[in-house]
Amino acid sequence: MCGIVAYVGPKDAAPILLEGLARLEHRGYDSAGLVVSNKGLKMRKVKGRVGDLAAVVPARFKGTLGIGHTRWATHGAPSDANAHPHLSTDERVAVVHNGVIENADELRAKLEADGAVFVSETDTEVLAHLIARTVEESDSLEEAVRTALKRIVGTYGIAVIDARRPGEVVVARNGSPIVLGIGEKEMFAASDVAALVRYTRQVVHLEDGELAVLRADGFTTFGGDARETAKEPLTVDWEAGHYDTGGYEHYLLKEISEQPETVARTLRGRLDDRFHIAHLGGLNMDARESRSFRRVKIIGCGSAYYSGQIGAQLIEELARIPADAEPASEFRYRSPVVEPDTLYVAISQSGETYDTLAAVQELKRKGGRVLGIVNTVGSAIARECDGGVYLHAGPEVSVASTKAFTSTAVAFALLALHLGRVRDLSPADGRRICEGLRRLPRQIEEILALEPQIKELADKYADAASMMFVGRVRGYPVAREGAQKLKEISYVHAEAYPASELKHGPLALIGPETPTVAIVPDDELLDKNLTTLGEIRARGGRVLMVGHRTADPKLADDCVVVPRNEIELDPILLTIPLQLLAYHAAVALGRDVDKPRNLAKSVTVE
Ligand code: AGP
Repeated sequence: MCGIVAYVGPKDAAPILLEGLARLEHRGYDSAGLVVSNKGLKMRKVKGRVGDLAAVVPARFKGTLGIGHTRWATHGAPSDANAHPHLSTDERVAVVHNGVIENADELRAKLEADGAVFVSETDTEVLAHLIARTVEESDSLEEAVRTALKRIVGTYGIAVIDARRPGEVVVARNGSPIVLGIGEKEMFAASDVAALVRYTRQVVHLEDGELAVLRADGFTTFGGDARETAKEPLTVDWEAGHYDTGGYEHYLLKEISEQPETVARTLRGRLDDRFHIAHLGGLNMDARESRSFRRVKIIGCGSAYYSGQIGAQLIEELARIPADAEPASEFRYRSPVVEPDTLYVAISQSGETYDTLAAVQELKRKGGRVLGIVNTVGSAIARECDGGVYLHAGPEVSVASTKAFTSTAVAFALLALHLGRVRDLSPADGRRICEGLRRLPRQIEEILALEPQIKELADKYADAASMMFVGRVRGYPVAREGAQKLKEISYVHAEAYPASELKHGPLALIGPETPTVAIVPDDELLDKNLTTLGEIRARGGRVLMVGHRTADPKLADDCVVVPRNEIELDPILLTIPLQLLAYHAAVALGRDVDKPRNLAKSVTVE
């Protein structure tokens, strides 16, 4: 998705903007641009990568204030002209924008009738012309921006500069993230902390409706009513090194390989060996409240939703509370009944996914109690929730989620253990789960050691036109996540089904050309799963089984054997071979592993 970087301070802005834009590349984009202010505005923008932009920025491109952007096309094709920044006709005002202006056509017609000359097909350009029309008679750039934004219907994160006010940048947020970075006599802003951590760890997140003025010596924030707001800076614990590939060929492989450590970080300090319970201080709930819920409803998008399905299963099994998961993108549109005795849990790695954020806001409006399971500290979803659990998995750069997925499942195990132990879960079962959780990092290492075998399997199956993923009950969300990983990074078509549903329709797809990945843990459903494998093999289907034992060659062509844990926790481990399978299939097919086509890391639009 689009990215924004802004700088004001004593240094040359262009190298800082280029570095910041490079840090946002993982979000997905098709063009890039920047503008600096130095006795007028100087702009460069190109269709292509940040490297292409750097190549057209001359060495002497002086200016200590500027804004930059990576664009993911919505209005108008990827092109130099449609790339941001956009300038007013008199080249006084420059704007970069993330989001969608819904009434852009109507505003454009009015502005053109009033003499504005448009040079792009974008919705953003209307903002440059609107601000230019008010800036003359406004006392400040901030006032001109506020006046222009009143005419906008839609979502935005914006950064604006005015050639006649070379000491300030104005940024504003409504539905698209903006975070300020506080430096030593310099200020930064970006759409993602990734662009800032090289320069500062002190950040301030803008809320929807807020606007900020940045100058080298500080910043001022204003609410929707134009009154100043007081903001406390937050220290982020992510470092620039987190955004390097660390010697791995791809971020994705690095992030898969980090999982022993990231799972350990999610667990750290949260398991109580005396009472066999999890301590989750961020829940902001005492034991009485924890006992009061009669249902748990989990929402998230994509892989976050699938990890929520694992979470629902864990909560039902360990806490015996009815629980289910639903895509946040559906939940928010169906006017859900919000019940006071339901605990709502929103999941998001980025904490900025628009559909999930909107669902949380709708829940809050209707009085729902919402917990967040979120990776990004201080993100919009984390701020909106009543409490929650941070994953502490470190930034996830690759578009496909891996370490955040496993850490979310672990966080759900902690939540389920907590809710279970203040209800009916026995100390013995509590201890069993605590011990199982502690075994996870070492067992993940054992699975990672299977990489050479999984790579061979990926090479063998990567040429399939389509693959089926099946699992039963605890195995079903694992199958869904496996199919999701394969399709998003290798572009191989993949379907996930409950194994029990196969004979109700999708069995018709099975044949030698459609291999099946079957999730077959050693649980109470083992025999049923083996029967399903027999049904697939009887139709000539090839089977790759992922489970706790090797199968009879009559039932499976290949097996990946992972270590056993407690049956409730097995889904976490069973997911990891599927991440490696997708990764190596994508590499074998020559895909852009970390930035798959058409996808973005944070989906901050509807
Ligand atoms: C996962 O591989 C995908 N990139 C995607 O499904 C992602 O999980 C989803 O968009 C939700 O993102 P979030 O966790 O940042 O909210």
